[in-house]
Amino acid sequence: MRGVTIVDHPLVQHKLTLLRDKSRSTKGFRELFSEIGTLLCYEVTRDLPLEMTEVETPFATMQSPRLSGKKLVLAPIVRAGMGFLEGMLELLPSARVAHIGLYRDPRTLVAVEYFFKAPDDIAERLVLVLHPMLATGNSAVAALDRLKEAGAKSLRIVCLLATPQGIDKVQGHHPDVHIWTAAIDEELDASGYIVPGVGDVGDRMYGTK
Ligand code: URA
Repeated sequence: MRGVTIVDHPLVQHKLTLLRDKSRSTKGFRELFSEIGTLLCYEVTRDLPLEMTEVETPFATMQSPRLSGKKLVLAPIVRAGMGFLEGMLELLPSARVAHIGLYRDPRTLVAVEYFFKAPDDIAERLVLVLHPMLATGNSAVAALDRLKEAGAKSLRIVCLLATPQGIDKVQGHHPDVHIWTAAIDEELDASGYIVPGVGDVGDRMYGTK
């Protein structure tokens, strides 16, 4: 599918299956979620530009690659996106973090913003939007609108699961934004949950239901 990368790495697929299991404990769910965040981070940063630099090893001086230029912002949509944050910061310890507080109106499923804070230099950074459940696409579009309004120019979305409907919605509004996801699940229920899915991520991660 154009504009979408399915991260089919066996470790990601295995951990996703463990996560889907409704008997997984809150602790287990949270740990797996963070581990998947780390693995997805590895894939979504695969094409970051490198530059050569001189390094002195114990035996010789050589030219060796290091990351060049591209600075990053991790932008979790609260709450579910927080589940990816720590795992990604382990690989990207210097990344800045933007928080996007959105809730879904349970009646209309429209995303309502209640908090937004992003670094001032977001225009110069690659923004990874951490949005584990790309369901209707409403929250993703609202987050991308808001980040672009704040100046973001280069954005990617990192999901655990996406639906065809959510992907269409994002691509309709933001065709410049590539989506990474561990899997695509076909259905959405009447409450906007992905089926078969993993359930309500915030509730399972924080033990609130
Ligand atoms: N948010 C969730 O936590 N789960 C879904 O299935 C959809 C949105």
